[in-house]
Amino acid sequence: MNDAAIPLENFDDATLDLVFTGLASEVASDTTSMDAEAFRLHWLGRKQGRLKLISDAWLKSAPPEARKPLGVRFNQLKQHIEAALDTPAAVGSKTNGIDITLPGTVRAPGVPHPLLKTMQEIVDVFHNLGYSTSTGPQVETDFYNFEALNFPPNHPARDTQDTLVIANQQGRPARERLLMRTHTSPVQIRTMIAQAPPIRIVIPGKVHRNDAADATHSPIFHQVEGLCVDTNITFSDLKGTLDHAMKALFGSSVKTRFFPSFFPFTEPSADVQISCIFCAGKGCRKCKHSGWIELLGCGMVDPAVFAAVTEQRALAGEITPAYDPSRISGFAFGMGVERIAMIQHGISDIGHFYSGDMRFLEQFA
Ligand code: DAH
Repeated sequence: MNDAAIPLENFDDATLDLVFTGLASEVASDTTSMDAEAFRLHWLGRKQGRLKLISDAWLKSAPPEARKPLGVRFNQLKQHIEAALDTPAAVGSKTNGIDITLPGTVRAPGVPHPLLKTMQEIVDVFHNLGYSTSTGPQVETDFYNFEALNFPPNHPARDTQDTLVIANQQGRPARERLLMRTHTSPVQIRTMIAQAPPIRIVIPGKVHRNDAADATHSPIFHQVEGLCVDTNITFSDLKGTLDHAMKALFGSSVKTRFFPSFFPFTEPSADVQISCIFCAGKGCRKCKHSGWIELLGCGMVDPAVFAAVTEQRALAGEITPAYDPSRISGFAFGMGVERIAMIQHGISDIGHFYSGDMRFLEQFA
């Protein structure tokens, strides 16, 4: 601030000593709080510099006999300021000065997020079995997310999906209404409409549900879906494939079992359970003393799904159906990435994945 041309009323030596000592200490403190250029302008600026303003004001009001002692002191102060500016790193040493003796800033290279790492691990297991990757949109139509997967409009199975719908879609035909996909299964339909069997794909991606966040739920989470369609695909192929995948992910001593379940797009359907990796199946808190942990859903592709695909392919001009259930069959499965990562690493709160807390994330670097 250049406002400090406070009028001096006394010009005796003692007063001058006092005010100039004050100015010198102001200079000293400015050398640490300002960078060199700001410091130079503040004190030595030709028009608004502090030295110029004070000396103009004080020399003007000083009695003739005080001019000399005042001038001498101004010269000393000026020399003092110039000396500070001439000394490397004397000014701005705390702000912009570079001390080349200090260690440099080490930037840690980025690493994959633990969720992406697990997602990639799952995908790799299937890549090694000859699967390729498909992806699809997160904003999906009712047709792909539900109808083609054999969830008819108003079917109660839709209630299990806690769907987040996009606003103002009432004017559209039911099939075309937009929603946030609740699972990665719609990409099965998109892929089958686009290409004939054989199909072996995995579908990693984000899905959305109207779920309140708690230790095990998040409204946005990740799934890896799988689809295999070919001639002579049986439930044994499904069992063998998923048993291999679970051993690849959790260790070769893990056992799997298939529990009857229901999904509209598979028939029969099953939930896959693995022997508890925390207690090796003996029973503990993590497996609710059952010895088993439920991990994913699966089943044989329902002929109704092939029919929906065939209808769309016919609209695009297909004459001989490639998805004829009398010739081809398939299996599908879907798993939650968060759940698998939590079991792999013994993480009890899903929220850690999204918190951005470096203390959590660094453990996976
Ligand atoms: N889409 C199901 C869900 O999110 C999971 C699933 C179950 C996918 C069985 C499948 C399957 O492909 O066959 O609840």
